[in-house]
Amino acid sequence: MQDTQHIIEKIQELKKERNAVILAHNYERGEIQDIADFTGDSLGLSKQAMEQEAEVIVFCGVHFMAESAAILSPEKTVLLPEKYAGCPMASMITADALREEKMKYPDAAVVCYVNSTAEVKAESDICCTSANAVEVVNSLEENEILFVPDKNLADYVSRYSTKKIIPWEGYCPTHNQILVTDVIKAKKEHPDAEVLAHPECRRDVIDMADKVFSTTGMVEYAKNSGDEFIIATESGILHKLEKDNPGKRFYSVSEFAVCPEMKAIDLDSLLNSLEKMQHVITVPEDIRVKARIALDRMLEVKRNR
Ligand code: 13P
Ligand code: SF4
Repeated sequence: MQDTQHIIEKIQELKKERNAVILAHNYERGEIQDIADFTGDSLGLSKQAMEQEAEVIVFCGVHFMAESAAILSPEKTVLLPEKYAGCPMASMITADALREEKMKYPDAAVVCYVNSTAEVKAESDICCTSANAVEVVNSLEENEILFVPDKNLADYVSRYSTKKIIPWEGYCPTHNQILVTDVIKAKKEHPDAEVLAHPECRRDVIDMADKVFSTTGMVEYAKNSGDEFIIATESGILHKLEKDNPGKRFYSVSEFAVCPEMKAIDLDSLLNSLEKMQHVITVPEDIRVKARIALDRMLEVKRNR
């Protein structure tokens, strides 16, 4: 077992040698966020992946995120340090199942949350993230929307759209298990704190929130207002919130708000990834081209809310 400082130095050295950039999602372990060149939400990291000049992107997140980077930047080598870091919600729909569903709703546009496989994106008209889902849906001409795979995000969007939203029955296990009773308990313990919730949460939890944001939305909001917050999303975000806002207080809504997949990468596996140039994430070209259209359409939609 090498000492932490030594591992960090080796990662920095190899990063230069490989001309690599490290991107980390806001839910990653604190030490991974700290060593990353950029942290962010799914939307921000997709944009970063495209803008980087580095030859190698080490994506500290889950499989669909690294896949999105590979779709958007096929000329770069995209590495996912932990091969099996996946998103259970993304596994709740397959391209075959989506094709079948599309046949039932021939007039519907398919909006696909980025938490999905490249094959599912390739079957969709447009992607969205938690930061732009409402804008994406409202930007479409179609009045019927097949929204996959997150039923909670679909329900959230339906509050801000007059369109008919047909949800897929998927969900994020981490967010879906945050309950109203957790919010009540947290509010009792911290009566002056504002509740910030992620739109992957259940409707009744969202109803108790003061504000609903993507993870980066929470980071921006907390910087500019209040000084005490109850956070209803994966608890990895507390690292960034606390780091950016010394003196403010943040409380996780529940000790169980942890996504094990987002904790899979540690400094050892990050170092290993750079040493062995593993695990390279690629997408077959026919799928990539179609999935890219759905992602590009999303990136063209302006955030104006
Ligand atoms: P955002 O950071 O885009 O809000 O993503 C949430 C998420 O669950 C990623 O897995
Ligand atoms: Fe998937 Fe939820 Fe984990 Fe995000 S937090 S990777 S949506 S299971």
